[in-house]
Amino acid sequence: MNQEGAGGDCFGVNEMYLALLAGTNPKTLVLNGSNKQTEELEMAIQNGLCINIDAEDELDRIDAVCKRLGKHADIGIRLKLDLEPLATLRGVSMHGPGTLKEQSDSTKWGMTREQTVAIIKRAEGMPHIHLKETHFHLSRMSNDPIAFAIMAREMITWSAFLRDATGWIPPTIDIGGGWTFGKWYGTGPRDQIDDRSAPTAKDYARLCSEAIKDEAKKHGLPLPKLRLEPGRSLSGPAGIAVGQVGAVKQGARKKWVNLDLSTNHLSWASALNWYYHAVPVAGADREPTETVDLVGPLCNSDEVGAHRRMPPLVRGDYVGFLDAGGYTESCAARYNAQLLPATVLVSGDRAEIITEREQLKDFAGRFRVPPRLLAGSFAPVEAPAAIAAE
Ligand SMILES: Cc1ncc(COP(=O)(O)O)c(C=O)c1O
Repeated sequence: MNQEGAGGDCFGVNEMYLALLAGTNPKTLVLNGSNKQTEELEMAIQNGLCINIDAEDELDRIDAVCKRLGKHADIGIRLKLDLEPLATLRGVSMHGPGTLKEQSDSTKWGMTREQTVAIIKRAEGMPHIHLKETHFHLSRMSNDPIAFAIMAREMITWSAFLRDATGWIPPTIDIGGGWTFGKWYGTGPRDQIDDRSAPTAKDYARLCSEAIKDEAKKHGLPLPKLRLEPGRSLSGPAGIAVGQVGAVKQGARKKWVNLDLSTNHLSWASALNWYYHAVPVAGADREPTETVDLVGPLCNSDEVGAHRRMPPLVRGDYVGFLDAGGYTESCAARYNAQLLPATVLVSGDRAEIITEREQLKDFAGRFRVPPRLLAGSFAPVEAPAAIAAE
């Protein structure tokens, strides 16, 4: 991604550390977060990332770190857009029930108009602080690009409001991610599957840039520099989650194909009712002949792919879940003490491990028995009565 000129948005000190360790240009990185730790602010300031403010005391905390370290900081402000036109639009319930506006309003993110004005006015009196941008992330609540164009327009409406209230015009606006992608076989949330009709990058680009240009013209504003954070639409299609078939069980009404891949890995399959299209790795074009439930080994129902049309699968076969490159590894869980799998980068006929398979020591090594309980945790010292009698 670095070589392609991309940066990223980081949450927390560890994501930021990894991005920097990978050699990412800090000027292409932003730090988001609703409760940033001092360690995080220090790392961002030392390395020159733009920090998107999302708390009322954050500006003072950044200023204090700048003074202590003798450094300057670039800042953005994460906005709580009004999004009135989204009050009647509905999409996917990724962030609770209700319209897109109700979902956006109910998330913890963003500063109100008043709070934003107060931050700008105070930041302008701080010589170490450099105001750089405003930020908003709508998230994948809809596959209708109109929602994103409405959001992009309102970023400019807010720029005009901020200019009038403070004199500052955001030179850059960051319109976040949540951009979807479609596949002919379908992918995404089950109540709004992304297929051939899903918007393309071109659709987003056209509608959002039209809205931005139109609104900027209306308010006599210069065109801002644009930052995008299209996370899943880049990483999603690049990843395939592969499981190996174990027990195949025929029930009275159903057939279950057990895999060693679970909802620990494809966590969105259960948490967000997400559809990942599944195909056998060998002979992917074989005619499907039966309907099966693809399940993992966990102690819940662990359905990674319920009611799937498949060709006959037998122990040892592999099944690939397509478009699983987003939020699979990063959201993976270890429920039932399952160890995390390796990740392999495949380029042409080359395969390279880029994340090592977790080992028992990585997992079990974290556990501790409090010393006061150690003796009591051994088996009873006296032999059970039956053995003693012998
Ligand atoms: C601030 C921000 N930007 C971008 C993204 C990426 O979103 P997506 O993967 O839906 O494109 C996220 C995801 O949570 C985010 O929080």
